[in-house]
Amino acid sequence: MNNINGNKAAPTAYGSIQLGYVLVDSPRLHDWRRFAVDGVGMELAAESSEALALRVDDHARRLVVRKSANEDVTLGWQAEPEALDLILQRLRRRDIDVETAEGEQAALRGVRKLWRFVGPKRQAFELFSEPLLDAAPLKVQPSAFVTGERGLGHVAITTRKPDQMIAFWQEIFDAKVSDFIDDRISGVNMHFTFLRVNPRHHSIAVAATKGVALDPFRTKIQHLEMQVATINDVTDAYRRLRELGFKIAMSVGQHTNDRDVSFYAVTPSEFYFELGWCSAGEHDIETRPQVVHQGISLWGHKPQDQTIGEKLAQVGRGVSSLFRPEYTPF
Ligand SMILES: [Fe+2]
Repeated sequence: MNNINGNKAAPTAYGSIQLGYVLVDSPRLHDWRRFAVDGVGMELAAESSEALALRVDDHARRLVVRKSANEDVTLGWQAEPEALDLILQRLRRRDIDVETAEGEQAALRGVRKLWRFVGPKRQAFELFSEPLLDAAPLKVQPSAFVTGERGLGHVAITTRKPDQMIAFWQEIFDAKVSDFIDDRISGVNMHFTFLRVNPRHHSIAVAATKGVALDPFRTKIQHLEMQVATINDVTDAYRRLRELGFKIAMSVGQHTNDRDVSFYAVTPSEFYFELGWCSAGEHDIETRPQVVHQGISLWGHKPQDQTIGEKLAQVGRGVSSLFRPEYTPF
């Protein structure tokens, strides 16, 4: 491809990559089934004593919960074949080991083949090009989940090494900065960087404390977000999750930057699940100025079911993170 000056444009993965699936390792399969199917309203695509597979669109599987003694989260990124080659070349150049898997492991995730490596914070990353699709009519409770070229949703990751983490996303995935948010949360000054790899406002939010670098979260991702088509889809899921007894970490509110109207529920694995409806559209995402918004929310998003004990535990984890090294691949 030539650019307007007649030079060959540098190859990029931007626009050719999206969050494809999330694989959760957890001992709490039964709770996850209630949370995802009865609460959020995803379709149960498959269930065994070893795993649950959930569907929200034409992909055979989007969220997979695998029975495990420990909690963990793996992020599966769908890349078009050329973008996949580019990413694999970059990983090789950085001496980051990549393994491949097919057969049963790929089938569990609803893909034909996958490439796996360890990213920042020892986060497990997987890449794939060919999802398995399911043409059967979808049986979900919301009117629709918003996916398509924007992918499954976004993840937020806390880090004590934000510069290295952002450099990783930019160098390996060609991520672009959409904007930033500064806020004071539970008495701690936070800075968020929102990165996009396709037209979705962000597929990754990188959260870091300002000043002393703390990581108050036990889980590798702080939250996973998915979007639904209407505001009623958001409030209906909120009501179902409450009725089922799941904790709401943050009440319904609206974000300053992408204008997402959402709430955060606590998953059985303890990371948060944000369900949102995006009112603003993303038509000008390539030309919007990279502003620093003050505060994560215009209204709402108030802490809801967090007890004082849980709050103190979070502060304690933040302090103990000071003494834990955080892995970074480069
Ligand atoms: Fe979010």
